Amino acid sequence: MSGPALRQLAAHRSIHEAAHGQVKDMTASLRLLYEKGRDKEAREAEKVILEHWRDHIIAHADSEEEGLYLDVRKERPGLSETVTQLMRDHDLLRKITREIEKNLEADGSSDDRLSMYESLLVVNWHHSRDEEKYLLGES
Ligand SMILES: [Fe+2]
Ligand SMILES: [Fe+2]
Repeated sequence: MSGPALRQLAAHRSIHEAAHGQVKDMTASLRLLYEKGRDKEAREAEKVILEHWRDHIIAHADSEEEGLYLDVRKERPGLSETVTQLMRDHDLLRKITREIEKNLEADGSSDDRLSMYESLLVVNWHHSRDEEKYLLGES
């Protein structure tokens, strides 16, 4: 999703909420799988969750940086620093996602990965609220 929808608060917020709700539910289900010792299924579920982060949330961030953020910087130079901060949030999402992928490939600790999935949710939640507030006029 890109273009005009990203400039409208209601449309943009509904993109955030749909994607966030899905990864939040998937993370809760993942935790249950590990608690029940269903590790093989859990690892498969992780591949789906990571794909979701990449294909929905990080792809959304990429498209903002290629369009909306450039436009905001041009049209409202006073928000340039805010855009920089929002881009740092995107970078954190990318870094944490890569860290989880590396941990999974190396057969690392599932507890560590569960903490990182929770961190992604926290960063993404605050990022979305700030983006709605500062760039899209939510007050
Ligand atoms: Fe964003
Ligand atoms: Fe967004």
